[in-house]
Amino acid sequence: MTTKIAPSILAADFAAMGEAIKKIDENGADLIHCDVMDGNFVAPITFGGQMVKSIRPLTKLPLDVHLMIEHPKSQIDFFADAGADIITVHYGACAKISPSYLEETLKLIKSRGVKCGAVINPDIDAEKIFSVLPLCDMVVLMSVFPGYGGQKFIPEVLQKIKKVREYAVVSGFSELDIEVDGGITEENAATVRAAGANVLVAGSAVFRSPDMRATIARLKA
Ligand code: DX5
Ligand code: ZN
Repeated sequence: MTTKIAPSILAADFAAMGEAIKKIDENGADLIHCDVMDGNFVAPITFGGQMVKSIRPLTKLPLDVHLMIEHPKSQIDFFADAGADIITVHYGACAKISPSYLEETLKLIKSRGVKCGAVINPDIDAEKIFSVLPLCDMVVLMSVFPGYGGQKFIPEVLQKIKKVREYAVVSGFSELDIEVDGGITEENAATVRAAGANVLVAGSAVFRSPDMRATIARLKA
């Protein structure tokens, strides 16, 4: 599968977001990763649907909205209306509400004509999301604990990437996107791809690069 790079705008200058979007678009990004944090599921607060709505007219790239929020169902309409192309929700946020909440949320996203995905933290077993895989366009494996950019990649996640890719292939979902989020660098990207990931989120690596185009190319190559 071809590798796609999803720069995370969490690492951008929020006072110059329009410029940041144009820059990543012009320099080879494949998706734009929008980290939504609510101050509850994770400690910081970033932005909501209004930011996605403002970004929408600036790029044709898919907007990949990563909801790090409690009660994600309540926000789906806002992000769908704002023009999200894919919305991903955390298994952990859903499981504490009810055993069926994740499935219901994924179905709600799909009912809005938006792609959907389930996200698991580094300490959650891959098996937890196997039952919803048939509903998912993408699975997101966190390779840091969510909340902050610029953290170090947790190498134990490599085994999980392999496990999910193998399960997806034997289950007939070989086209499933597996996105890995957190601590991706030019140094570890090849290993993450070899393990079976085809979408790499990169915040710091892209935004702190002196040559964004070359960095995005090297993350893919
Ligand atoms: C963490 C976010 C990530 C993060 C990635 O909560 O979901 O998307 O911003 O940033 P880097 O690439 O700097 O780890
Ligand atoms: Zn993210």
